[in-house]
Amino acid sequence: MGRFGILTGGGDAPGLNAVIRAFVRRSLPRGHSVLGIRHGWKGLLERDTVPLDREAISGILHRGGTVLGTSRTNPYKKPEDERRLKESFRAIGLDALVACGGEDTLGVANRLAGEGFPLVGVPKTIDNDLSGTDVTFGFDTAVSIATEAIDRLHSTAESHDRVIVVEVMGRHAGWIATYSGLAGGADAILIPEVPVRIERVVEAIERRRAQGKNFSINVAAEGALHAPAHTTDEEPRSGESAGAATVRSVLKDGATDAFGHVALGGIGETIASEIKKRTGIDTRSVVLGHVQRGGTPTARDRFLGTLFGVAAADLAHAGEFGRMTALRGERVVPGPVAEGVAKLKTGDPRLREVAESLLR
Ligand code: F6P
Repeated sequence: MGRFGILTGGGDAPGLNAVIRAFVRRSLPRGHSVLGIRHGWKGLLERDTVPLDREAISGILHRGGTVLGTSRTNPYKKPEDERRLKESFRAIGLDALVACGGEDTLGVANRLAGEGFPLVGVPKTIDNDLSGTDVTFGFDTAVSIATEAIDRLHSTAESHDRVIVVEVMGRHAGWIATYSGLAGGADAILIPEVPVRIERVVEAIERRRAQGKNFSINVAAEGALHAPAHTTDEEPRSGESAGAATVRSVLKDGATDAFGHVALGGIGETIASEIKKRTGIDTRSVVLGHVQRGGTPTARDRFLGTLFGVAAADLAHAGEFGRMTALRGERVVPGPVAEGVAKLKTGDPRLREVAESLLR
């Protein structure tokens, strides 16, 4: 019988504990043992493991975060880490390793699988921007939290005749912004896929005013691109020129993580001050940040996490490596990990059209 490992890497996502629990509960009765690898790839490098028996996974289903801990460690960054990782893999004696993660964690899993290591992937990100699966767990919880925040902001915005810009997560894709914006009735939804046309946001706000609505809620994904003096109707990419200005993301402090991603943050405030400058209306920004990733997962995310945990256990049991669990319609099916990391899944243009049409 096999010795299986499971790790969680990258940003945490509500539903991870459901995956861990289901994986262990499906694997133990088959005679396998399960080791939890703590803090993602860091734990494998440092051989930091914990046995996962029935007791260890009891009472975790409804809990947010990940009981294994997580990190953004990139073992391929330094050759000595890569060597150490492979040595640890062999020394621990893993017959299968399940890696739950987003583009970075699964990117490492894919490379290891390509080198013959017995890897199974579970796609995870609240941003919902992974290909190969219709949806990732954590997304539903994030959307619910963001929608509730938008609902709450409505009443205070209305009382004060204010404009509020709500900044939500979404580094490369505007899924959270689009879903929560539509569910919460936001006026403008600003996403990374299309540079922000500040003039259009201002027009929408002024049109509302003319209709007697003196408040407005707008949602911006943290990765939304800002084109301050945008003069054309084309859609330039980041770094390209748009009229007199350059289109760019708003960065927090220039810091990058181990995978080279810069920390984003501040687009909400940037947009809010542009609106205020152009309209004179009292405009505030609210950054939801990590609140979107915290706390109890929704029923949908626990359900999806459980199905992914079961499917990962079945793949490990069958020795089907280099595969990841994927939701297609209502069914969970195996797909290549390579597909999950090949390209990011950006937002659906049809939803964008819906959001735009409601602005008129
Ligand atoms: O990867 C998901 C995500 O939520 C992104 O939207 C965001 O940029 C990032 O995580 C922030 O995570 P952290 O602050 O934990 O590095």
